[in-house]
Amino acid sequence: MDLTQGSKVILIGTGSVGSSYAYALMNQGLCSELVLIDINEKKAKGDVKDLNHGVLYAPSTMKIKFGTYEECKDAAIVVLCAGVAQKPGETRLDLVNKNMKIFESIVKSVMETGFNGIFLVATNPVDILSYATWKFSGLPKERVIGSGTILDSARFRHLLAQEFGVTPTSVHGYIIGEHGDSELAVWSSANISGNPIAPQLTEERKNEIFAEVRDAAYEIIEAKGATYYGIAMGLARITKAILRDEDVVLPVSTLLNGEYGYEDVYIGVPTVINRKGAVKIIELSLDNQERERLSKSIATLKEIQDPFWK
Ligand code: 2OP
Repeated sequence: MDLTQGSKVILIGTGSVGSSYAYALMNQGLCSELVLIDINEKKAKGDVKDLNHGVLYAPSTMKIKFGTYEECKDAAIVVLCAGVAQKPGETRLDLVNKNMKIFESIVKSVMETGFNGIFLVATNPVDILSYATWKFSGLPKERVIGSGTILDSARFRHLLAQEFGVTPTSVHGYIIGEHGDSELAVWSSANISGNPIAPQLTEERKNEIFAEVRDAAYEIIEAKGATYYGIAMGLARITKAILRDEDVVLPVSTLLNGEYGYEDVYIGVPTVINRKGAVKIIELSLDNQERERLSKSIATLKEIQDPFWK
């Protein structure tokens, strides 16, 4: 397909993340057509009906329907939200065996249709499953994007916004690395209107803020069973960047190919997103501690990922 044409989005997996994402897409009028696929047909069809009853009040019209894999052949984006989710006490990495199997079958089924668009991966562990999607699909790396640290960076900017009494869009800062326990905050370049944030906070406060970011999902899962609104908005943001050819920089999971001194791993780093996908990694200048933490985060992912591909 011509990657500059059409805005058909396929959502595979209509659990709490998938259906919240569908709702966000509709609310923002981001695509012309949305197709929902799930092994639980009843749930997906229920979502389709429910969503269609909201289209009248959406900013622009949208065709929403239930579908099969066949629909993927002319899609611009296939969004992968299928798989098992964390239960209280589980880490994201605990999900890898089950979700890897599910992904192998889903990605192969999508590719058999002749799909030639962009995969957007949200299922955890997202970095490892984005790498797996790239491998299983055989698509160029630009066309497999993971949600990465888009949510963690939003959590970081939200907390700093509260700390300094400004809105999150006025806070600039990134969480990079694994979307999970080994991620890191890039304090050295976090700023408000160019004013560095790090010198304005004690080490203790910085540690508290970072811990709150890193552990946010555990807290939310404990409180309500799952997280979905934040990630749904992050996924919608990436979708918009692709469909509107924005060239915007977002922290997503993408394949390192020498950037930051590493290769052959999908990890969350600021990346330029447009209609062609994740086209360019922005290399932040990191201080020594940040470099060391990134190296550990990469090692954590590779240790779990590499045995699958031996
Ligand atoms: C989150 O960070 C669980 O990965 C999900 O909210």
